Amino acid sequence: MDVISVIRTKRDKGELSPEQIDWVIDAYTRGEVADEQMSALAMAILLNGMNRAEIARWTAAMIASGERMNFDSLSRPTADKHSTGGVGDKITLPLAPLVAACGAAVPQLSGRGLGHTGGTLDKLESIPGWRALLSNEEMLHVLDTTGAVICAAGDGLAPADKKLYALRDVTGTVEAIPLIASSIMSKKIAEGTGSLVLDVKVGTGAFMKNIEDARELARTMVGLGTDSGVKTVALLTDMATPLGLTAGNALEVRESVEVLAGGGPKDVVDLTVALAAEMLAAAGIKDADPAKALADGSAMDVWRRMIAAQGGDPDATLPVAREQHVVTAPSTGVLTRLDAYDIGIAAWRLGAGRARKEDPVQAGAGVELHAKPGDTVTAGQPLLTLHTDTPEKFDYALKSLTATWDIAAPGTEFTPNPIVLDRIA
Ligand code: URA
Repeated sequence: MDVISVIRTKRDKGELSPEQIDWVIDAYTRGEVADEQMSALAMAILLNGMNRAEIARWTAAMIASGERMNFDSLSRPTADKHSTGGVGDKITLPLAPLVAACGAAVPQLSGRGLGHTGGTLDKLESIPGWRALLSNEEMLHVLDTTGAVICAAGDGLAPADKKLYALRDVTGTVEAIPLIASSIMSKKIAEGTGSLVLDVKVGTGAFMKNIEDARELARTMVGLGTDSGVKTVALLTDMATPLGLTAGNALEVRESVEVLAGGGPKDVVDLTVALAAEMLAAAGIKDADPAKALADGSAMDVWRRMIAAQGGDPDATLPVAREQHVVTAPSTGVLTRLDAYDIGIAAWRLGAGRARKEDPVQAGAGVELHAKPGDTVTAGQPLLTLHTDTPEKFDYALKSLTATWDIAAPGTEFTPNPIVLDRIA
């Protein structure tokens, strides 16, 4: 087998054979295929696509590049959720303890933020003492004793994807549906969950900007999961505007705790409850009532135990950025658009995100929203508050907020998008 013939096959719009796929993934993981050769192949896949059989084989080869976890020893059924990433997407934080409070075991192997979307681990690391890195034994122990664990995926899980994802990130080849689907599903299948709910984000703040691409990605991932024996369902959800009223690490933890305390913004509560209901149904748990488990404090109890089991202090004061800058509404009227991508970029520039994977993040940095599409605003009222420890970043962040909102005449009829746009099973 030689790599040039594999690249040529895809360059010329051919179908990769199972042997070619197994070989190229294994040889790339071992370092025999060079980054520049894999870049060429990834670009050929982005341009010419892969069929369902090729995607399934590519996913299987990435799973086979590392270890597979096993949760058979647990007494509860496992349920996991994966989001394709968005701005203000803190849903994993209230969702994992909520689903655990309703009877499932929730192993959430999560990532860090890169670019304008935040990472769950960065958010939780703003809680003093909390540790993302657990051994497999520690992870199983936290899962067994509290019902939920949110931690970093170990290096042994789908190492081919770790290498390939880092390469795609710097070669303009992230946005290929076969590569996104196989990347996400290889990690989820290797993780060993029994059921999986996918939150496929659609809109300016997401990878998928339009609903047709999001449907294709969702169908591809649901097919991969189902074919591997993982009960998989996808919700397509709105990411035209940020979720909730915060984007930034500690800001989002604070909002998640409000949701667990029975309050919080309606879109965050609605999506958390909708995803919890799907996860519980996929895990075969009937008669659970996630809305009640949020209201009666049982989800909060699991959250406190889960945070403490990973060294965190659930009662600690969360970090607050040293400096704030308020952006006001330029006119009076109905807010009809508040762009998720621009807000994500502003939060990132303020220090909430990183440009390279080794960069530190500021726990307190980010953007707080004072209005959402559909709200009436008055000229001069606060629209956004920017938070950072490094005030010299305000100007840079403000440059990303020049065309971020539309305000229509007072009294304009406007119905915001529903949070759940479609369901694919
Ligand atoms: N998340 C992943 O894990 N992989 C992708 O390719 C895109 C998003």
